[in-house]
Amino acid sequence: MRILAIETSCDDTGIAILEAGNAGNFKVLSNIVSSQTKIHKKYGGVYPAMAKREHQRNLVPVLINALKQAKLLISKSKIQISKQIQNPNFKTIKIILEREPELLKKLIPFLQKYEKPDVDLISVTNGPGLEPCLWVGVNFAKCLSCFWNIPVVPVDHIESHILVNFLENKDIKFPAIALVVSGGHTQIILVKKICKYQILGETRDDAAGECFDKCAKILGLGYPGGPIIAQLTTEARHLHRSPASVKLPRPMISTKDYDFSFSGLKTAVLYAVEKKYGQAPLRSAFSRTSEGRQYIKQMCVEVQQAIIDVLIKKTMKAVRDYKAKTIILGGGVSANSELRKQFARHCEGEARSNLKLIFPKPNLSTDNGLMIAVTGFYHKKNALRYSSGQVANWKEIQADGNLRISK
Ligand code: KG4
Ligand code: ZN
Repeated sequence: MRILAIETSCDDTGIAILEAGNAGNFKVLSNIVSSQTKIHKKYGGVYPAMAKREHQRNLVPVLINALKQAKLLISKSKIQISKQIQNPNFKTIKIILEREPELLKKLIPFLQKYEKPDVDLISVTNGPGLEPCLWVGVNFAKCLSCFWNIPVVPVDHIESHILVNFLENKDIKFPAIALVVSGGHTQIILVKKICKYQILGETRDDAAGECFDKCAKILGLGYPGGPIIAQLTTEARHLHRSPASVKLPRPMISTKDYDFSFSGLKTAVLYAVEKKYGQAPLRSAFSRTSEGRQYIKQMCVEVQQAIIDVLIKKTMKAVRDYKAKTIILGGGVSANSELRKQFARHCEGEARSNLKLIFPKPNLSTDNGLMIAVTGFYHKKNALRYSSGQVANWKEIQADGNLRISK
């Protein structure tokens, strides 16, 4: 079957087309992501109203690219175009996209111009994430489903960060412990099997990615902070081998649960920087000196290591407690190469030699449509059918910013 997947939960507009055999053998036909990083950089974080507007602008061009790359974009003939002016589905689409006028403006001409693609299922993220952004994706999926008469399945974004690993790993042994670390979430999840989960622990305040982003902002490094801190850490390690002069706490590292707390880390960075170099204007001047640059790099090394230490300690505890056979990493922070390296070292150090560590390619760690396609495949039985003229169970698909991975 062919799955067309849509991801708009945060600041990336992603559309992918995946061919899936019944045995879970996958062939990627396309995976297009349009990032809004440049727009949100100015604000040092994602600004939801702006992100919603960008998704409205991006979805149709990204869909065209994805279909083109999958060789599924076929123009209609002039006769076909002239016949469809009266198509009643356009009326439904206008109702669905009442709150997304910019998307409507692009979608109608697209649907008029191109044929229904050879796709069997539409899969869309309906949560968790930024609700205004999620709604754009969900409503877009409903429109396509309505116009092309293709069933649509809503999927969980966090589950998708886990299941994207099944694209390239066929023989994953259960139980597995998944660590999902992104800009919005940090969760340790027991994976009993595909579609059967239990959240063991999560952050009580900031997510790990959020901590990277906020610390980077304090250090005047820009957005998103994770990749920048990772880069500066690598440079610092090449330059000097002396231990960093700054020492940050490892919050909750020894508690008996599987929870995290990262907000204290950001505060510790802020206090340390202020104590040494005063308020923001002074800091900015200092950061341009060579001593300042050195200090910032050392701080990056320490921030990254503090986050990695806590993530690994808690995950390994869950692995032992639940006798897990596999560790699955996912989410933007799992793109961090030092995190992967240090996880690998810990796995080798474990007494049980059959413990396997898996993680996605860096471009599949961060948000993308492909992960939504894989999850759509595993949940295809939950797809809702829209029969022309009937509303049926149509309105059941709702965006939910606080969606929790279900058992
Ligand atoms: O999964 P994701 O793309 O979006 C959410 O679902 O939130 O994750 C984005 C987060 C950002 O906080 C970003 O700073 C972080 O992932 N990130 C990284 C790296 N690449 C992205 N954090 C650490 N190291 C990286 N290489
Ligand atoms: Zn994500």
